[in-house]
Amino acid sequence: MSTVASIIVSIAEEMRTASERGTVANYIPPLARVDLNRFGMAVVGMDGETHTVGDAEVPFSVQSVSKVFSLSMALNAMGDELWGRVRQEPSGSAFNSIVQLENEHGIPRNPFINAGAIVIADILVSRYGRENAQTRLLEFLRPLVSDPSSIDIDTDVARQERETGFRNMALANYMRTFGNIRNVVEDTLDFYFHQCALTMSCHQLAQVGTCLMTGGRNPLTGERVMSERNAQTILALMMMCGHYDGSGAFAIRVGLPGKSGVGGGILAIAPGVASIAVWSPGLNAQGNSLLGTRALERLVQHTGWSVF
Ligand code: DON
Repeated sequence: MSTVASIIVSIAEEMRTASERGTVANYIPPLARVDLNRFGMAVVGMDGETHTVGDAEVPFSVQSVSKVFSLSMALNAMGDELWGRVRQEPSGSAFNSIVQLENEHGIPRNPFINAGAIVIADILVSRYGRENAQTRLLEFLRPLVSDPSSIDIDTDVARQERETGFRNMALANYMRTFGNIRNVVEDTLDFYFHQCALTMSCHQLAQVGTCLMTGGRNPLTGERVMSERNAQTILALMMMCGHYDGSGAFAIRVGLPGKSGVGGGILAIAPGVASIAVWSPGLNAQGNSLLGTRALERLVQHTGWSVF
């Protein structure tokens, strides 16, 4: 892993000087005011060896990267029955698209588009209750990181998500007409908005990702946090759907399962090798981190970590 340290330093230098940086999400002020020049990266290997560069310790809004964690919890809670409420297929549409729901009985294509993640949130609210689902989410994440108390939910971001989340409200209400949202829509969305508002650093995200790198175990404790099959399922979905209508291009350029968020974070997993998180807040046209993707592409070019 020692060469990884120098590789990520050179990647950070390339990204620092990049002129085209994408655009920060601007639908709520806490995202809109993030400095476009931020860049961080963290890599955790199978032996726990960790390399970080740039702003790797700076907390940011993980947004849709959280959909990986909520899916992990819902699969743990419900198993394969879950696939009756959300499918396992790429959507080819924008992350917040409503268009497929009408012809497909209110069943979202996958758990990573907003509609699918709202169904997952509904499942967790049914299982744990609206407030307790947040506690459970934090309890799932905290044992995986070395500084557990610093992972939190930014309630101000959650409130602003709610105040501006008209599209998500439409998706949830529409799916409710098909019976695919079972709770009061506001309760399901309350949990969804809070999971989006999770605040973590690249270092913490990479640490949480280690449970997918290992096939379902927490390498810090040796405990199993999900079955091997569920870990494989989640990685396959990350590869096919983790970047929405940019998933195909991401798979070709990077060759690793990855999940993005509009905060500019990406979690990528090299199975059995490394868990990687990158943060650059400027987004491309699909709402995925522009330089984050380029940084992962460079890392894989230098390490040969592509799964293909
Ligand atoms: O619900 C939303 O639309 C946002 N809170 C999260 C979307 C997101 O992160 C899409 N990812 N790139």
